[in-house]
Amino acid sequence: MAATFKYLFPILFLTLIVKGSCECSINNINIGTTRSGRVIQGQPEWNVVVINNCTCTQSQIRLSCKGFKTSESVSPSILSIEGDSCLLINGNPLNSFATVRFSYAWDPPFLLLPTSSSISC
Ligand SMILES: *[C@@H]1O[C@H](CO)[C@@H](O)[C@H](O)[C@H]1NC(C)=O
Repeated sequence: MAATFKYLFPILFLTLIVKGSCECSINNINIGTTRSGRVIQGQPEWNVVVINNCTCTQSQIRLSCKGFKTSESVSPSILSIEGDSCLLINGNPLNSFATVRFSYAWDPPFLLLPTSSSISC
């Protein structure tokens, strides 16, 4: 019995660590928006950095894009606007701690929030 515990405990412990480090969610997609200082067709430009702040890869990342407008064209291969939702990088996987950057221009800036993704560890 004691021997069983001796071996079982480290296994349980390791399982918890591995599982813990893989508990990613849409909340681990962090978006930072900063003003670039440039003006594009009369609108201030914003630099957006999307980071997958997690140890798992996330794909099919969608952001809320309600009313999104930009006077600077944004490549649909980076941000594809589909109604109130935007698909990031064509739904391709964003690796662990990888980033996607793009810029758009509008005033005021939009609150782009991650809404859904598919997580693979
Ligand atoms: C990544 O996540 C950590 C822990 O939740 C947080 O402290 C950090 O600010 C995040 N990084 C970014 C770029 O949002």
